[in-house]
Amino acid sequence: MANQFFNLFFMLNVLLSCVSLAQSSVSAVGDPGMRRDGLRVAFEAWNFCNEVGKETPGMGSPRAADCFDLTTKFKFNHRRKRHRIKKSYSLNHRVAAADNKLGMGKPFPGSSPRALNNPDLYAAEKELYLGSLCEVADTPNPWQFWMVMLKNGNYDTKSGLCPENGKKAAPFNPGRFPCFGEGCMNQPILSHQQTRVSCHGTMRGGFNGTYDLGSDTGGMSYFEVVWEKKVGMGSWVFSHKLKTSKLYPWLMMYLRADATKAFSGGYHYDTRGMLTTLPESPNFKVRVTLDVKQGGGPKSQFYLMDIGSCWKNNGTPCDGDVLTDVTRYSEMIINPETPAWCSPTNLGGCPPFHITPYNTKIYRNDTANFPYSAYHYYCAPGNAQHLEIPYSTCDPYSNPQAQELVQLLPHPIWADYGYPTKQGDGWVGDARTWELDVGGLSSRLYFYQDPGSPPATRIWTSLDVGTEIFVSDKDEVAEWTLSDFDVILTSPTT
Ligand SMILES: *[C@@H]1O[C@H](CO)[C@@H](O)[C@H](O)[C@H]1NC(C)=O
Ligand SMILES: *[C@@H]1O[C@H](CO)[C@@H](O)[C@H](O)[C@H]1NC(C)=O
Repeated sequence: MANQFFNLFFMLNVLLSCVSLAQSSVSAVGDPGMRRDGLRVAFEAWNFCNEVGKETPGMGSPRAADCFDLTTKFKFNHRRKRHRIKKSYSLNHRVAAADNKLGMGKPFPGSSPRALNNPDLYAAEKELYLGSLCEVADTPNPWQFWMVMLKNGNYDTKSGLCPENGKKAAPFNPGRFPCFGEGCMNQPILSHQQTRVSCHGTMRGGFNGTYDLGSDTGGMSYFEVVWEKKVGMGSWVFSHKLKTSKLYPWLMMYLRADATKAFSGGYHYDTRGMLTTLPESPNFKVRVTLDVKQGGGPKSQFYLMDIGSCWKNNGTPCDGDVLTDVTRYSEMIINPETPAWCSPTNLGGCPPFHITPYNTKIYRNDTANFPYSAYHYYCAPGNAQHLEIPYSTCDPYSNPQAQELVQLLPHPIWADYGYPTKQGDGWVGDARTWELDVGGLSSRLYFYQDPGSPPATRIWTSLDVGTEIFVSDKDEVAEWTLSDFDVILTSPTT
């Protein structure tokens, strides 16, 4: 009898804890787990300093979207005895081909006169416009779309196009960055296969294209993202492909959950996105299924979570002043061919200290204890005034403002956060659904701040997965699928 009571008590407890777990699990994205039949997805292409620079003729501004609602109709089939009711599906698209083709000089609802002949401003406003077409009313906030981001790492240093740590910079001689000559920072050719639904209820669409505008003498760069889902079942599966070429050896492609308003990581204009609530360290987790089919070669820095935010060196939030705003990124690189540049003999490539899950600080000069192989590279913001020597500052040109990078590698030290603990985890042949304590981990990473300034609130405006093929020596191909993406807010007490 006592035993039965105990069992009952135990089961009740389990039940109750399940209920409370369900209640405390609140998603920060508009489409938790990518399960919504009516998909919202957009595309953006960036040049080296996260702008447009110049549109590619005939392509419009490099912003596009595919957003639709699904309608199911029931038809009676009088001839057949069985299966008399047949479902038929249709998609009501919210973004027309003409919207996606909008380019400089063409006004649209909400466009400002000064944006009409400025390709950077035009793209920023076009994103807001596409967002207005895709927007889903929701609580606590409306949301717009998942974002596919494509970036070309070529920089024409003679163009003087990219600022240096946010400051307008003079042109300089080539050599530091890949560029085949004038026009190397071009925007891609983009084609769009608008989502369609088959009679069996399979929905499929995609974006693809190339950066190579001219010669098709083989070895063209290529990018593709195809999304597919069966009506009413499971998650959308996003299949990505990215290929570098001789002319475009440095390419990036990510699928991002961005802020629905505010600046998202690396972008100094108001954006649209998926994060109905901006997650704050340490109180959030990310769930995502990743299947890397092809790695993209030794230079492919595949990010199983790249998180981006922005705060000033004095700890205050960014306000769009590129001279004092600093983009902050942290990335776990899962390509086992990526070495640790941080080492006892290269302390400048390590953060000044590591913090354990038990809040013990280990200085990088503590060679017996510092986990050097857990860090690929740390670089400090170029506008920081009080850096500890030795240091390495981040590339000053590749963001509109100064940036800071904390790049991690799989290591047992990350086990408490559910992150990859050894080389090969999550890599080709190890497809998994991850539940990453991104909030917990990012609360204990070192980020630079001026001495004595109150610690910045770490609120993340961009969470993404994808690869950066960082100047490949030969044409490389990366291929992966992503699904089930969710950002789960956890309560401070759990
Ligand atoms: C993009 O996909 C379409 C349809 O599958 C194809 O016809 C086109 O050639 C592709 N674009 C490039 C640049 O390969
Ligand atoms: C290690 O670095 C810390 C912080 O910079 C410093 O206080 C300490 O003196 C250093 N220890 C040694 C042995 O150099």
